[in-house]
Amino acid sequence: HRHLTGISGLQPHEIAFLLDEAEQWVDLNRRASKHDDRLAGLTLINAFFENSTRTLLSFEIAGKRLGADVVNMHAAQSSVKKGETLIDTAMTLNAMRADIIVIRHSSSGAVQLIADKVDCPVLNAGDGWHEHPTQALLDALTIRRRKGRIANLRVAICGDLLHSRVARSNILALTALAAEVRVIAPPTLMPPAIERMGVTPFTDFDAGIEGADVVMMLRLQNERMAGGFIPSPREYHALYGLTAERLERAAPDALVMHPGPMNRGIEIDSNVADDPVRSAITEQVEMGVAVRMACLDVLTRRRRGVEGWA
Ligand code: CP
Repeated sequence: HRHLTGISGLQPHEIAFLLDEAEQWVDLNRRASKHDDRLAGLTLINAFFENSTRTLLSFEIAGKRLGADVVNMHAAQSSVKKGETLIDTAMTLNAMRADIIVIRHSSSGAVQLIADKVDCPVLNAGDGWHEHPTQALLDALTIRRRKGRIANLRVAICGDLLHSRVARSNILALTALAAEVRVIAPPTLMPPAIERMGVTPFTDFDAGIEGADVVMMLRLQNERMAGGFIPSPREYHALYGLTAERLERAAPDALVMHPGPMNRGIEIDSNVADDPVRSAITEQVEMGVAVRMACLDVLTRRRRGVEGWA
């Protein structure tokens, strides 16, 4: 089966193909009746071993709009709490003859481990510090629709780069689509040798944001900092928070993005996050449903006897 464990396995034309496929679902989702039953008879299992609002709900909505039978497994209410291993849990889902499994897990690589064991396509909904491919696709779709293109745009990705699967997937997708990507983080939250990913690192926010067409803010992930350096929220906001004043340095029509959930007043000020013209944050959520519909459709095509993806 073809899985979607990361952007790293995709060619640029495959990324563009998934974005093109998502466009039809943006249109459908804006109609009063939002159904296309091409996944009727198929079973989608969303197995979430880590909390989520946007990703879980949008995969559930995406599956239902495509007519699939959708089942959600929340680890906190499952036999994982009785000590069942990840592989045993995966084999249990497999024995129920799932047709596609969506997984979120706190360990990097957990999704690949499951993908190697089950008999259906597996979609990564975020694994540890590794990747969150559908987030990068929905971000790319948001940028492409707002700006008309991705190539040659200057995109600044700012904040907790070290712990961010969103940043890794976005860097891979945006550089593949020929954007100029800058990353801005305090030295303690900047991954070592990140310039090898084809990005330019900055530790000075004001220098990094200069002329940016897109300013993508990241959440400060305190839950992943156990044993490490935890910045003080006040100091972090003073040096790396996106304020209206700082945004002045970006391009005049710069787009403000955040994957959510936001720490308002820490990495982003409310007046910037809620700016009706510049902020694309709620649009990102809308694009999330469309992109996930595209991924569910494309990954199950062979199973449905339809020509597989490009
Ligand atoms: N952006 C994102 O993945 O949000 P959730 O954790 O709420 O799914």
